[in-house]
Amino acid sequence: MNGKSITIIIGGGIAAYKSLELIRLFKKAGAGVRAVLTSSGAEFVTPLSISALTGEPVYQNLFDLDDEANMGHIQLSRSADLVIVAPATADLMAKMAHGLANDLATTVLLATDAPVLIAPAMNVRMWEHAATQRNLSALEADGIGRIGPDEGDMACGEFGFGRMAEPDVIFSAAQTALGAPGPLTGKHILMTSGPTHEPIDPVRYIANRSSGRQGAAIAAALVKRGARVSYITGPVTVPTPKGIDEIRVETAKQMFDAVKAALPADAAIFAAAVADWRVDCAGDTKLKKEKGALPSFSFCENPDILASISALPKAERPALVVGFAAETDNVLQNARTKKIRKNCDWLLANDVSGDVMGGANNQITVLSDKGEDPWPIMDKKDVATRLVKQLTEALTNS
Ligand code: CTP
Repeated sequence: MNGKSITIIIGGGIAAYKSLELIRLFKKAGAGVRAVLTSSGAEFVTPLSISALTGEPVYQNLFDLDDEANMGHIQLSRSADLVIVAPATADLMAKMAHGLANDLATTVLLATDAPVLIAPAMNVRMWEHAATQRNLSALEADGIGRIGPDEGDMACGEFGFGRMAEPDVIFSAAQTALGAPGPLTGKHILMTSGPTHEPIDPVRYIANRSSGRQGAAIAAALVKRGARVSYITGPVTVPTPKGIDEIRVETAKQMFDAVKAALPADAAIFAAAVADWRVDCAGDTKLKKEKGALPSFSFCENPDILASISALPKAERPALVVGFAAETDNVLQNARTKKIRKNCDWLLANDVSGDVMGGANNQITVLSDKGEDPWPIMDKKDVATRLVKQLTEALTNS
């Protein structure tokens, strides 16, 4: 937990007092804790007692100028390695399930890209109600983790499921969420993503339509399985997945240098759309328009990063080298020759004739020494999950 940053959202329920003990456990383990207290939470615990434990102000209002100046709601959600909702009331769960953002707590929850854990606490009938169970299913489908509730006597005098899990149990679930060993723990995966920009002069460049979405999805799937990821990306606007080592570059040459610097690696995935050529002798000053004269450029070839890494001697080469083949026509035929030319282990042939570049889906056929495996059209996230699952099997069985 040392150095980790936890945002705890305290909802309104008698179990809120247990969240004070949870904060104490996090602090004792070396984590930084920031607390967001909902208005109903403040009926059960005071900001003063929370602040005494966190050593930080308590954040309560979305439109509080002091809170916003101190730590804006976006920063509150982005600076966290983990967000915990404890207690998570039926009301908070309903708002989360529907993406409401009408107070500070729900805004932080909607804006965060950190893992989120909820520790529900409510009356047993409320817990069992079809609406709460529906909301729970939606939250679980969104990837939100849940601890409890436990069965037992409740403050309202009833018995059943609805008691918030004990602080030590929530604490160990948080430990797992923050660094649980996964099947790729101890493996270093190097990857490229996004386009490259090749300058013409200081203000103009040649680029392509790659959004970097597929690469980002792969990086996120690798991190989820515990890998250490060196993520070398060209200029993109997709958010950087959490927990990776991001190296930002612009040109193909810079990308190649960054890849070499990130070696050795257990596997390398080349998802970037690297420019094949760059303008020879790009200008240091802005090219001026001259009447009647059109500019002409000569190009030189960029390094082929994938082919160069595939050609490394065995001791330096990642055990598994994966490339993509972006093709608009003769997809399989072109991919087959590309795989031979680049000498990679797997080549994911990608039909980019439609709106694939920048779009949400991908249609992949995997070429490997086992043959050709066509995948159905899938969301880029599902492509990432499937690829990382196969990569995990290959790396852990070798
Ligand atoms: N690639 C690379 N370095 C380059 C060009 C491509 O590492 N200079 C990698 C890409 O990241 C991808 C694979 O090679 O994994 C194939 O890229 P693609 O653009 O499909 O092929 P090209 O080599 O550019 O060939 P062509 O433009 O003729 O299709």
